[in-house]
Amino acid sequence: MKCRVKVDTRVVIGTLDRRCYGQFIEHLGECIYGGIWVGENSKIPNERGFRLDVLRAVKELNPPLIRWPGGNFASGYHWIDGVGPRDKRPKSYDMAWGAEEPNYFGTDEFIEFCRLVGAEPFIVVNAGNGTPEEAAHWVEYCNSSRETYYASLRRRYGHEKPYGVKLWGVGNELWGEWQVGFCKDGAECARRTVEFANEMRKVDPNIELVAVGCEDPEWNIEMVKEAGKYFDYLSIHFYDFDNKPYRELVAIPIDVERRLKDVYNLVQSVRRKYGVEREIKIAFDEWNVWYPEAKAPLLTQVTSVKDAIFTAGILNMLQRLCNIVPISNFAQTVNVLPLIIASSDGRIVLTPQYLVFKMYCNNKGANVLRTFTDSDLYMSSSIGEYVPHVDISAMLSEDSKTLYIYALNRDEEDSVELQIVLKGFNPKSGMQQFISGESVDDKNTFEDPDRVKIEEARIQVTEGEVRVDLKPHSVNVIRLVD
Ligand code: AHR
Repeated sequence: MKCRVKVDTRVVIGTLDRRCYGQFIEHLGECIYGGIWVGENSKIPNERGFRLDVLRAVKELNPPLIRWPGGNFASGYHWIDGVGPRDKRPKSYDMAWGAEEPNYFGTDEFIEFCRLVGAEPFIVVNAGNGTPEEAAHWVEYCNSSRETYYASLRRRYGHEKPYGVKLWGVGNELWGEWQVGFCKDGAECARRTVEFANEMRKVDPNIELVAVGCEDPEWNIEMVKEAGKYFDYLSIHFYDFDNKPYRELVAIPIDVERRLKDVYNLVQSVRRKYGVEREIKIAFDEWNVWYPEAKAPLLTQVTSVKDAIFTAGILNMLQRLCNIVPISNFAQTVNVLPLIIASSDGRIVLTPQYLVFKMYCNNKGANVLRTFTDSDLYMSSSIGEYVPHVDISAMLSEDSKTLYIYALNRDEEDSVELQIVLKGFNPKSGMQQFISGESVDDKNTFEDPDRVKIEEARIQVTEGEVRVDLKPHSVNVIRLVD
């Protein structure tokens, strides 16, 4: 198969917000305990309680943002239980997941983890059975340099300087009946959001807030109309639960792109109608595939090449939507619906989805470009439209010297000869990184940890013309250097 893509480096559609490559960790199953945190006395090699192999693997992703402590867990979590000397912290009951929470990993450990891996923290407050006052105290603990009680408590626990947590979520999925303290409708959630935002901003007026949204237009209308002047991002979550056949799964990012645009456009019309001046964008702060095997309490699954292609499809889409969806968080980083599988005997496996994040996060495009792709199409019955076999997103580095082209070949059987037609850029050399595997079902496991890996190839560049071979069912990052 052949495909042509036109890239004009003078047509910049926006600047990438690297927070779109964010991660999410929750007190759930073995994500935190056993995954990130094993404690100082564990046999598993650790740095001050943080599991070293996982720490290294997360660091290599160069994650810009990490969301914590949940998820559903956040709606019953009382942060005060998780600070202070570890042996004095109470054991509490986690109502969301029916688990015992030892509280060994709390705010200070989370901030330390973020620092160790170089990520910005994103904290979701308890707007389920918590109070606005409790959330405001949390902001004080993290961000205040006053001599007041909670800021002094942080200092007493050994953290002199404020943490400066900028991004806060006001609740999680408050539209769902499974959520501790869920709301009956958007109006109720809007009122709750106003009360939380109001108290949290009285402590630190510079924080940015993510409020709970969903794909119910009535909910979002109420949220923007009644609370829109109090928050900066509306949260949307997406999981594909259906265990779809390959061709259907890899088409899904196209549908998600359309749905995120729909939510964004609705938000903008409600803002206009009710004169909400605050700018509101979308935080796509939980997304992934979720297979039937991933059941509570552990939510484990082992994903394959097909999920890597889905993942790259979502990242391509997020790059293209950089102006409207600047924040996103993959659910989740370790052991729960995982990117990284970490066993209790001290081994880890990096899934093909992990490899996609590694390829995308370590290639530093800055300016997102408009592209025109002329690809063959196939019909997807689940989204009810034609889907291009080849999906492209392109970015130029800040110094305009490197052009990154992120290319998926969705076709299961055929490779694609991709012709890249460039305007405004004359590359001298090129490299291609890719993952493909032998089949879409290839996985990395403890028995065969490197079955799917990142491969590299040099690209021939002759007089500005670039041709690249995209293997069947592959994710490719093409780096062209001026
Ligand atoms: O990621 C697992 C769970 O999925 C989260 O706790 C919740 O927000 C979502 O329903």
